[in-house]
Amino acid sequence: MLTFIWAQDKDGYIGKDNTMPWRLPADLQHFKKETSGHTIVMGRKTYESIGKALPNRESIVLTRDPDYSLTDAKVVHSKAEILEIAQDKDVFITGGAEIYQLFLEDADALIVTHVEATCGGDTRFPTMDWSKWQLTKRENGTRDAKNDLDFWYGWYEKMGNNRG
Ligand SMILES: NC(=O)c1ccc[n+]([C@@H]2O[C@H](COP(=O)([O-])OP(=O)(O)OC[C@H]3O[C@@H](n4cnc5c(N)ncnc54)[C@H](OP(=O)(O)O)[C@@H]3O)[C@@H](O)[C@H]2O)c1
Repeated sequence: MLTFIWAQDKDGYIGKDNTMPWRLPADLQHFKKETSGHTIVMGRKTYESIGKALPNRESIVLTRDPDYSLTDAKVVHSKAEILEIAQDKDVFITGGAEIYQLFLEDADALIVTHVEATCGGDTRFPTMDWSKWQLTKRENGTRDAKNDLDFWYGWYEKMGNNRG
């Protein structure tokens, strides 16, 4: 099972200067809760922007560089290897834009943080056919001193997917 997880602003921006365009610690906690204990896949640029593997998760980093190696994450060079791993466990695709684009047709489920603001940036989530996706759960984020934006979490399933 392949689940995309990301946060985007109203214009679809997900990144700015190799980091997130906003500061929302609540969203980082949400990400931790959703992905802990599972396998997360990210592009080499996103890995380097975080600077280390996140705890309590198996991290897989995609690069085309055959000499790239990490001590705290598994390094892979092809989409096929990830699809094989996702056959028998829950795998979360965690970005960035190039990696979401690469797996766009393969996603089974989406977990999206909708930041209800215009934050700008240099990296956007790829164009997505939302008519294929059904919102199955929605939860409002709490705006407070540390999370000073309106945001909500949406869980989506692909229409026509029959997983019992
Ligand atoms: N808002 C969110 O939820 C969220 C989530 C994640 C990331 N981001 C943001 O997104 C931005 C980074 O996104 P990005 O698109 O620039 O970079 P990225 O997707 O993180 O990484 C791109 C890299 O992945 C590797 N790659 C891409 N396609 C590949 C393939 N087919 N096979 C093997 N390796 C492949 C390449 O690494 P090599 O160059 O090493 O070959 C490529 O340079 C940052 O601003 C980050 O903060 C936001």
